[in-house]
Amino acid sequence: MTLPSSLDQWNAVAGYITERLVPADDVLTAALEASEAAGLPSIAVSPNEGRLLHLLAKVQGARTVLEIGTLGGYSTIWLARALPEGGRLISLEYDPAHADVARANIARAGLDKIAEVRTGAALDTLPRMAAEPGAGPFDMFFIDADKQNNARYVEWALRLSRPGSLVIVDNVVRDGKVADAVSKDPAIMGTREMFDLIAAEPRLEATAVQTVGPKGYDGFLLARVVS
Ligand code: SAH
Ligand code: DHB
Ligand code: MG
Repeated sequence: MTLPSSLDQWNAVAGYITERLVPADDVLTAALEASEAAGLPSIAVSPNEGRLLHLLAKVQGARTVLEIGTLGGYSTIWLARALPEGGRLISLEYDPAHADVARANIARAGLDKIAEVRTGAALDTLPRMAAEPGAGPFDMFFIDADKQNNARYVEWALRLSRPGSLVIVDNVVRDGKVADAVSKDPAIMGTREMFDLIAAEPRLEATAVQTVGPKGYDGFLLARVVS
């Protein structure tokens, strides 16, 4: 059997999928351009992954979304656009400069009534948010921040969930390094701790899928809150 895959081929196929199925969009393009102009790292989800988040939010019938890790708000816009009238998205971002870029991008997208960016380390802002009246439950979570805290973020998602909530985690494969049981990389150790936590958590049913393309070799974890 031949192994036809190469980075070039992954990118060609990602381009093919995106051209056919992910309509070009001025607002999303502008969000990426503004992020780049402000010097943010180019680590937003790819267009076909953004579209996947959007579709999952719609399939889920999500009205409320909690995102951890905003960057310039690219994934935020994909998710917020999937919400119905009266829907609400909260996105948590550590870096005030990233949050400023994201807020401008969200406003340009006409989503500032739906999506709110809160600045601070998520492990500080989560307990504050949870103490507010009416906080949660959220129908969907997108976890995409500092990977060493992935297990903590899944615990918070569980606390702020209802039966049927959907939890998505980005970057759970990382060039296959997730399978390295002796890795000392805090991001890998944090992600492996999250896998162990989910494996032992009867309230979650989960899987993870590997992805290739412009973001390299990586993957998404998907979990459904059972009870
Ligand atoms: N979801 C975005 C990409 C997020 S990149 C998209 O796909 O468009 C990861 C983001 O998490 C960065 O902006 C980084 O500043 C933020 N981050 C890192 N540590 C964090 C923390 N402790 N709390 C909240 N955000 C954090
Ligand atoms: C990194 C973070 C991300 O959320 C991502 O999608 C890609 C890379 C990073 O920290 O390197
Ligand atoms: Mg990511």
